Amino acid sequence: MSRNLIDRFVPGEQMSDVLDATDDLVSSGRAVTIDHLGEDTLDRAQASATRDTYVRLLGRLADLGLASRTEVSLKLSAVGQALPADGHAVALDNARAICAAASSAGTTVTLDMENHTTVDSTLAVLGDLRADFPWVGAVLQSCLRRTEGDLRDLSHAGSRVRLVKGAYAEPASVAYAAKRDVDLAYVRGLKLLMAGAGYPMVASHDPRMIAIARDLAERYDRTADTYEFQMLYGIRVPEQRRLVAEGETMRVYVPYGEDWYGYFMRRLAERPANVAFFLRSLVSR
Ligand code: FDA
Repeated sequence: MSRNLIDRFVPGEQMSDVLDATDDLVSSGRAVTIDHLGEDTLDRAQASATRDTYVRLLGRLADLGLASRTEVSLKLSAVGQALPADGHAVALDNARAICAAASSAGTTVTLDMENHTTVDSTLAVLGDLRADFPWVGAVLQSCLRRTEGDLRDLSHAGSRVRLVKGAYAEPASVAYAAKRDVDLAYVRGLKLLMAGAGYPMVASHDPRMIAIARDLAERYDRTADTYEFQMLYGIRVPEQRRLVAEGETMRVYVPYGEDWYGYFMRRLAERPANVAFFLRSLVSR
């Protein structure tokens, strides 16, 4: 894999790299969510180190005056969820420390969603965290058959939900196999979120989904500050700028860190569509 390809999707390995990229994005009118790369750790010390990195990052965002436009995204498996025996409790403790740091910095945390085996644990952690930090957001994946139920549960006032199609290879017993069904489920999810009382985060590069989300926002009399669009760093950048110019909130998901190799290889291996997804980015930005 070429360094150019990696650079397009990850601004760098160091915290200074992601802070520079964040500064540029915020200056261009976009909001940001930062992901420190890493997942599925089976090492308790690594989970603690990741927690500490997030806490430091949030302090830097506050110092630099970037926290009002920048939140963080967190994979619970990076902070211990996959540890045998007490992984759920370890991840909850670490996530709580990160939420406390986000609260001090004046920003928010969104919990990424990993494969279907983690959904119950992640939503339980979300519920626990929200008791103290009601602004913690969740990601739900339209590819999963259970998601419509989860969306109904999470479309209440104050609830921040990032709707994605889903990036993990999942068995047909729990997920839609056909892309068309995943797309239709995404549209149904958008309707539930836009009609609900929460804060929808429309995370997709798909022009059809973006157009439908905008139509629904209008139908449900939503003002631009009651929902937002989100895209991955380096993908459809002109479209990101266009949406900002048209008055929409656009948040860019920026991953950084040394663990980029695993991130890319897993993304490419997990789902054949992702190979096309990344290759297409080389020719159409
Ligand atoms: P999809 O891949 O279906 O593409 C539809 C259309 O979008 C294409 O036909 C093309 O028109 C356009 N398009 C897509 N990619 C393009 C490109 N590179 N260049 C130009 N046009 C392109 N997943 C997960 O399982 N858990 C998570 O926590 C997250 N988190 C997350 C956060 C954010 C902010 C985003 C944007 C995405 C995620 N994802 C995720 C990933 C998500 O599940 C999904 O894999 C990708 O977003 C790809 O799906 P799309 O909805 O973008 O469209």
